[in-house]
Amino acid sequence: MIPPHGGMLVQRVLYGALAQAARERAGSLPCIPLTRAQLADLEMLATGAYSPLTGFMRREDYLRVVREMRLANGLIWPIPITLAVGEEVARSLKVGRDVALCEDGRPLAILHVEEIYPYDKEAEARLVYRTTEEAHPGVARLYAQGDRLLAGEIWLFDWPQATKTQFPELRLPPAETRRIFRERGWRRIVAFQTRNPLHRAHEYIQKVALEIVDGLLLHPLVGETKADDVPAEVRMATYKVMLEKYYPRERVLLAVFPAPMRYAGPREAVLHALARKNYGCTHFIVGRDHAGVGKYYGTYDAQRIFDDFRPEEIGITPLFFEHAFFCRACGTVVTAKTCPHDESQRLHLSGTQVREKLRRGESLPPEFTRPEVNEILLKAYRTRP
Ligand code: ADX
Repeated sequence: MIPPHGGMLVQRVLYGALAQAARERAGSLPCIPLTRAQLADLEMLATGAYSPLTGFMRREDYLRVVREMRLANGLIWPIPITLAVGEEVARSLKVGRDVALCEDGRPLAILHVEEIYPYDKEAEARLVYRTTEEAHPGVARLYAQGDRLLAGEIWLFDWPQATKTQFPELRLPPAETRRIFRERGWRRIVAFQTRNPLHRAHEYIQKVALEIVDGLLLHPLVGETKADDVPAEVRMATYKVMLEKYYPRERVLLAVFPAPMRYAGPREAVLHALARKNYGCTHFIVGRDHAGVGKYYGTYDAQRIFDDFRPEEIGITPLFFEHAFFCRACGTVVTAKTCPHDESQRLHLSGTQVREKLRRGESLPPEFTRPEVNEILLKAYRTRP
């Protein structure tokens, strides 16, 4: 089995009497309310999906991550995992003390405050997101958050509401996906990150990858996404119907990836890959404009970034795919690498075109989307307020 990033799988969830003791103590600690994205990061930390991180980053890690994509100890890490709070809250806290991390006033975890520090949001935007424009949803979230960062290790004793109610049966932490892979005898496993319904281009690149490995982890992100992305509940229905109708059951595992979407393109592709290594995957698909938004990143920037690192430092093997589309002359989904025909034969639909069609109640062509998925999407758009 592939080792987790940094060598050891982190586990920061308390159970039984230990959880009860922490819960009781948390009741008397200062309560820090977390946003939806912060709650998602908390779950990622607690389950070891962000191994080797055991909590929110200290300043020396933060600065080196922003500038060099490395933790202070030199290990690759592309995106800051931080806990921002307002200045007033920061002033009321003391380094060396514990605080409770809360959802709607309910404590879920204890954080031992090791450091409280200011940071340069614009520098983070420029270096991590490659833009300082607020129109970028990741940058907008960064600008909207507090001006101080709280650093320290966490222990979680209760799960966020979404974790308990949204796809609880698919919330497999890294230790669990690793156990399942072992049980199924899968040695080479490819992970597929997605925040969209599965279209035929997605299906194509997954199946091409599946031809050379033992199993596919279909790993849709279900943390916070931008408002016009298709909601996770609707997407989940599309994943289930695709698996039922078009995939070999014994070769695919469907589980959710709790992280929030940052739309940081290249750097997020590296984060997505490292996290999937923690889940026990050996390969990771990076296609066209991975984790991108708008025109902020070049089509293949999220592939090129892997050249900045030695493969053994990344550990998981990225599988790169060119833009896939349906070609009428080929009669199948292809890429420019495998199709000799010209543009007149090729069917391209952008995300915006897809959304417009669905809003107008028009079906997506079967060459683009399986009919069962089209049905689910049409229905979801019809019933949308
Ligand atoms: S993402 O934000 O999670 O990257 P999406 O769910 O659309 O968005 O993409 C999931 C994965 O499929 C990413 O690796 C992306 O690069 C890849 N991908 C999406 N559409 C295509 C396509 N038409 N051709 C090749 N790769 C694609």
